[in-house]
Amino acid sequence: MSVPLADSLDNPPPAAAVERAAALRATLNHHAHLYYVLDAPTLPDAEYDRLFQELQALEASHPGLRAPDSPTLRVGGAVLEGFTPVRHAVPMLSIRTETDTTANGAYEFDVRVRRDLKLTENDASVEYSAELKFDGLAINLRYEYGVLVLAATRGDGETGEDVTTNVRTIRQIPLRLVDCDAPVLEVRGEIYMRRDDFERLNELQRTKGGKAYVNPRNTAAGAIRQLDSAALNDKRLSFFAYGLGAVQGWDVPSTHSGLLDALAHLGLPVCDERTVSTGVEGLVRFHERIAGRRDRLPFDIDGVVYKVNSRDLQQRLDWTSREPKWAVAHKYPAQEQMTILLDIDIQVGRTGKLTPVAKLQPVYVGGTTVSNATLHNEGEARRKDVRIGDTVIVRRAGDVIPEVVAVVIEKRPVNVGEPFDLYKRLEGKCPACGSSILREEGEVDWRCTGGLYCPDQRKQAVTHFSQRTAMNIDGLGVEIVDALVDRGIVQSPADLFNLTVSDLVGLRLAGGSTLQLLSATKLILSIEEAKNTSLARLIFGLGIRHVGEATAKALAAFYGSIENIMSTSEWTPCFVNDVGVEVCRSIFSFFQESQNISVLRKMLKLGVSPEQNQPSAQNVVDFGKMLRLIKQIDMSISPKRSGLLEGVAEVRINRLVGLFSSPASLVQGDALSDIDLENTRQIYLNILRSPSWARAIEELERLGVSWGALNEDNRGIAPMNEKLRRILLSKSDFSEVQLKSMSDAEGWAWVYRNKKPSSKASKGSEVCFTGFGVSERAALEARASDAGLRVVTSVTKGLMLLVAGSNAGPAKTKRAKEAGVSVVDVDGFNRFLETGELQD
Ligand code: IVH
Repeated sequence: MSVPLADSLDNPPPAAAVERAAALRATLNHHAHLYYVLDAPTLPDAEYDRLFQELQALEASHPGLRAPDSPTLRVGGAVLEGFTPVRHAVPMLSIRTETDTTANGAYEFDVRVRRDLKLTENDASVEYSAELKFDGLAINLRYEYGVLVLAATRGDGETGEDVTTNVRTIRQIPLRLVDCDAPVLEVRGEIYMRRDDFERLNELQRTKGGKAYVNPRNTAAGAIRQLDSAALNDKRLSFFAYGLGAVQGWDVPSTHSGLLDALAHLGLPVCDERTVSTGVEGLVRFHERIAGRRDRLPFDIDGVVYKVNSRDLQQRLDWTSREPKWAVAHKYPAQEQMTILLDIDIQVGRTGKLTPVAKLQPVYVGGTTVSNATLHNEGEARRKDVRIGDTVIVRRAGDVIPEVVAVVIEKRPVNVGEPFDLYKRLEGKCPACGSSILREEGEVDWRCTGGLYCPDQRKQAVTHFSQRTAMNIDGLGVEIVDALVDRGIVQSPADLFNLTVSDLVGLRLAGGSTLQLLSATKLILSIEEAKNTSLARLIFGLGIRHVGEATAKALAAFYGSIENIMSTSEWTPCFVNDVGVEVCRSIFSFFQESQNISVLRKMLKLGVSPEQNQPSAQNVVDFGKMLRLIKQIDMSISPKRSGLLEGVAEVRINRLVGLFSSPASLVQGDALSDIDLENTRQIYLNILRSPSWARAIEELERLGVSWGALNEDNRGIAPMNEKLRRILLSKSDFSEVQLKSMSDAEGWAWVYRNKKPSSKASKGSEVCFTGFGVSERAALEARASDAGLRVVTSVTKGLMLLVAGSNAGPAKTKRAKEAGVSVVDVDGFNRFLETGELQD
């Protein structure tokens, strides 16, 4: 056997290999850019992998072909001994921070700039560029003749560290710039981790039983400074460019906004969330707009940055020793703070879930004072190793419940408490009712087993049942529920329908007040009104685990009546839109519980009468879905038996669906000549004949489901609104036949999802209605939520749209206009649903 000679000067790699490697590098880098930066891939993943492996093989046999821009370098694996210090050609300075988090921050910057430029009131406004202040770590990327040759951290600003090996693993950072042969181009920007990538990483840690990472910034910074680059393989980092370092042979654009555009053309990721404004007002608006969107951005920011746009003016303004005078960071309130953990309480949730809650020394974070924060569950509390007396980091972002993210171990006092043990702490008993507590195998949460016996669960069940989006019982506040449950007057939501005015008048509430005749009468009327409700509201109100409003609506449409859903078979819920196996199990077991059934029966007896519908077999059930579900369920029920369907590949299921389009045709069909396929058919046949599946099939058919292809007569849904149908015909790819099987709700959802992005429409998806009568409002709200919008009741900055009816008062409209929210009338709202465009 001949060993191939290593390539050397005397024995160069063959010209064809050199050419092929260069072509592969170019293709792979181009597609990485489409995929990772533009998020618009055009090459199937498998093809990318094939080309990648070809390049790897070429480089393995000709090591001389390894180029600094080869995507094979992106695979982490190299272990370094240490990082080499790098002296920056141009120091990496910092940026002045405007600590006034109000709009004044922007005005003060403008005043300073104008003063330093010696402008008077009569001079024109200065043009600024505004962008986000990313919360990650600064990096200098040095490209020579378009190829990434060095990546260095900021360090002390003069000298950083060479982290090139690690930075090459970041797919968003181009190894070669597009059309750039400048001898030197140093690009500066921020390496960060997206929130979803961070969550995914922590999820992975959880499954591995590892310690949770504290926040995206520390994780990104830690990853870049890992000596073992393999540790980066599970951490997906991202990058945004925002400036320059040393430059030779490249024409620097004359404005900062022009520079950002040019960097994007070179293939570098540049954040779209930026603006140019003449004068300071645009900066204030940008600061406010981003504040409203901060929690919805896919990554953390800690402020915005304003820069004088013109390079000439920047040069005139110059630098102080630490920072440029032409830029400022305008911060937002911090979302994380340190404080002391005083105690750990345990709360009982509506479904019995026991949640450890940290009692904290009050601390101002994310815009309010926080003294309670969730610890999620025992596992999390232990992983974070929180102990009473510890200094902890609390995070509060937007509307999210504040949480304890980590312990500051360096600050742990010597006399700190024990590691957290929920069972021991509660001595195995629910703190509210004393029932035993239980944690099922594979679950993270301990639960109280008391059900509606437990007063805490009872109170929350009643509150959940009566809330506006469920049974809408007005005037039944938490204090009244507490009093009714504590006195034993109400034991379950059904007892509400037994209440009389005399039960309520004089009821003592927490805080010492008593319920007066007027409120009592109003409450009783409201309870009366709630009896005529929709099936969806009733189902949602029951508080079945995992069943939110949307699922309740889908279940109501599917089953049509409360009797149908009460008697559901085990697997039927799986055939309702968006109901997965776990939710299905929870629905079935809810209706298996005799206590739940008797509460429901009692309500019905006391006059609760949800409207009955024809069960809507909108559902042309795809038989393939059924077969795949059976496989999934079969494997999840009995891992040992899963051998039966485990090896059954998707293609084989598809072949079966090609031959049979319904359970009956599969069961009754002739034996197949293909032995493998026939074996699979036999397995399915046995399962379909088993009692639980036979019941499900019988039930689905009774509910009017049709199998496989669309059967016109069997649709069972109201024909689509003609106007909507026409819109969909002209704007979507749906065929006439497909539209026939579609509900209005699905149609509107499509319109909403595909509406033209207009700057206002992309603001958010919240809509608020004001000045409408009850029924008109309900109809509008239903259409809005069908279209995927969230209905809210107050005007906030995050609001997308205020729809004003004829009785609208001036206050809300005024507030909306001030907050830059669009205000439309009903026609405008209809137009928006149809076209996605907003005209005030
Ligand atoms: S410009 C000379 N722009 O904030 C101006 N910095 O001290 C240099 N940062 O370490 C910075 N987002 O890592 C600039 N859009 C942005 C930024 C940004 C985040 C970081 C940067 C720097 C720190 C400011």
